[in-house]
Amino acid sequence: MCAMVNKRFISRRNFIRKSSQIAQSVYLASITGLSAAISACGGGGGSNTGNTSQNGQTSTPSDNSSPSSVTLLPVPALDNGTFAENGTREFTLNVQSGESEILKGISTATLGYNGNLLGPTLRMRHGENVSIAVSNSIDETTTVHWHGMHVPALMDGGPHQTIAKNETWVAQFTVLNEAAMVWYHPHTHGKTGSQVYRGLAGLIIVDDDISDNTALPRDYGIDDIPLVIQDRRINPDGSLAYMTVMSDKMGMKGDHIIVNGVENPLFKAPAQWVRFRILNGSNARIYNLGFSDERSFYRIGTDGGYLERPMEVKRQILAPGERIDVVVDFSADLSSALSIKSYSSELPGSMMGGGMSMDALDSEDFEILSIQVDRVAVNEVALPSVLTSVELLSADAPDRVFTLERSAGVFTINGKAFDSKRIDERVSVGATEIWEVINNNGMPHPFHVHAEFFQILSRDGVAVKEVDFGWKDTVLLNPFETVRIIVRFQDFPDPDAPYMFHCHILEHEDNAMMGQFVKV
Ligand code: C2O
Ligand code: CU
Ligand code: CU
Repeated sequence: MCAMVNKRFISRRNFIRKSSQIAQSVYLASITGLSAAISACGGGGGSNTGNTSQNGQTSTPSDNSSPSSVTLLPVPALDNGTFAENGTREFTLNVQSGESEILKGISTATLGYNGNLLGPTLRMRHGENVSIAVSNSIDETTTVHWHGMHVPALMDGGPHQTIAKNETWVAQFTVLNEAAMVWYHPHTHGKTGSQVYRGLAGLIIVDDDISDNTALPRDYGIDDIPLVIQDRRINPDGSLAYMTVMSDKMGMKGDHIIVNGVENPLFKAPAQWVRFRILNGSNARIYNLGFSDERSFYRIGTDGGYLERPMEVKRQILAPGERIDVVVDFSADLSSALSIKSYSSELPGSMMGGGMSMDALDSEDFEILSIQVDRVAVNEVALPSVLTSVELLSADAPDRVFTLERSAGVFTINGKAFDSKRIDERVSVGATEIWEVINNNGMPHPFHVHAEFFQILSRDGVAVKEVDFGWKDTVLLNPFETVRIIVRFQDFPDPDAPYMFHCHILEHEDNAMMGQFVKV
């Protein structure tokens, strides 16, 4: 989406290099147990136990030394799809129910795509035509929204593209995104929170020539590790507790922190640069990520793709819906153990929810992922000093204002509760607009815009700082904060098919903090 100025070319050398990469990844899949990923794209075959496989180390001798109480980090199966004769990359997803072991030794009824929980990681390339056939085998209507994909409104999978029980919906689009990790999840009117909470969420990795040729770690499940961080509350009988107490209406939080669907997993890492592509897939919880030994790590990408250059940090705040792509150097850490934590005690109480929506974990530091560096380097990787170039947008149309509020128990935008029959905003294709988003409420609200990436211009009048650089589709607004973002609407005019903008705390979204825009 015009993020990259360096235009790429496909040389014969690149082509050969690509072919050998494919051969290598197929080989790795077959030796690491990721082979389920390959069969998963055949379409929901009934007997799989889930969408995840342990991260490729189940056959190494060091596993025997793990205490049995440790669960290795599951990695969502990689699904490359299959190619139709016309070159379209085709995927199938089946929405189904099952049982999962989120907590060790306890069975929980869950939902998943092609499995019991979460979904396969769909991998696709910039420029390709893609088709994704989604069938629904659960007892309720659902939708599948491609959060972060730049697609026509009718393919967006919002509340209007419903999939009834036993029906199939086929989304078809050209991949216009640059390399990035985006994700998919239900967007069912009034039920998004409940369906995501029960397990419906999956990742999409988009590759392009820049990501193919980078020195960064990119060996999926080995040194390029997706982390879906969520929280759940689980009843003594193993069932998920959803919206059981009054305060849940402010945002559903749980006391069990899970990564890729399990609590407190262990990731066994090679002693080299390792990449974590992290999604906050929680309904409402905000995390303040950092390593247990206070080491630095490097942000390399945001929601929409690479940053221009790596940024060294010790903390990363991540709100629901946001992604961050980071790398960390473990090359001097062979045989050591550390963890990724949330340093939530460092955040002002207001940021963690303020008043009614705060729970105990909002003011404590807690563990998210244990890491044991147990092997020498497996890939020769490095941290480049320059990653890409990002074009800075400038506005050429009047500003729009969006005020987030709560009145009479309903969350609103510009004083209005969501109405699927009302178009709130009409934007012109070709325009670049500044959206001023005002949080007029004591709770934090991550504001999300469908199908477009934006840039953050300022917070409370202070010009954007480095921590807010890069392409975003979701921006966290602190209580009573005003954030100005800039967004360009380039294509896909359709006066009848709306896209959504909303708060990504799913209980706020379901309780009306959402509006619709069309591109004309
Ligand atoms: Cu991730 Cu409209 O949503
Ligand atoms: Cu979205
Ligand atoms: Cu909100």
